[in-house]
Amino acid sequence: MPDSRVPRRRRFLVCEPRHFAVHYAINPWMDPGRSVDVIRALDQWRALVDAYRAHGHTVETVAPVPGLPDMVFAANAAVVLEGRVLGSLFHAPERRAESLPYEAWFKQAGFEVHRPGSVCEGEGDLVPAGRWILAGTGFRTTPEAHREAQEFFGVPVIGLTLVDPYFYHLDTALFVLDDEGDGNVAYYPGAFSPGSREVLARLYPDAVIATREDALAFGLNAVSDGRHVFLSPGATALAGQVADRGYVPVPVDLSEFHKAGGGIKCCTQEIRENRS
Ligand code: ARG
Repeated sequence: MPDSRVPRRRRFLVCEPRHFAVHYAINPWMDPGRSVDVIRALDQWRALVDAYRAHGHTVETVAPVPGLPDMVFAANAAVVLEGRVLGSLFHAPERRAESLPYEAWFKQAGFEVHRPGSVCEGEGDLVPAGRWILAGTGFRTTPEAHREAQEFFGVPVIGLTLVDPYFYHLDTALFVLDDEGDGNVAYYPGAFSPGSREVLARLYPDAVIATREDALAFGLNAVSDGRHVFLSPGATALAGQVADRGYVPVPVDLSEFHKAGGGIKCCTQEIRENRS
């Protein structure tokens, strides 16, 4: 089976963590009293970019803006599907100003940006999964934004309710392993309401089920290209589970970013231009 997994080349947008810091607390991971090692963060982030490029992916960058320490979390800035860009409206006032530089980047890259009318945190909560979009709510993105995303993309949006504040964005509790055909995901059931767990079990009877320990190690904040899974090295059991399914785990340590509640996927915006 291992050789049957075929990677698809991706186009990623990232933001250098030159101004990364934890100056405020908008999720339970953040403690403004704890210092962040920016040099270490830069090294870890460069290793992620290098890993993507080494596996054939295109990586583009948006310039970081001083005073926006969370701007490194590019995933939250938009959702891009078939070349359509749904921008973001951040829940926290501290992050609202991030939308503009990302919007400017998309415009200069030739995309039009649709601004959402209600709180919508990009791929943090709206996760394209092949035929549909999985959409988290409960802490950040609103059900109203789910409706807006469905109307804008014309793709079914499946709402899922998050219940554990440590997993405040959908991309901290679930990632897409495969987006071809019916696709497949890995997730931590404890992050979801009972009904949402049932929905996931119906959609993905063959999903990889992660432990709380691996989820807390940011194991689900991963990126898969259909073969390689860029994964937090702390999620040891999960690495074994995905390897058993024929994927190739590529460990990338972003521990400095965990202090802000983010990991690999949070730092990565995927630009999807064509129908997958
Ligand atoms: N400090 C950021 C926040 O709480 C982290 C965002 C992480 N991004 C993500 N896609 N989960 O908003």
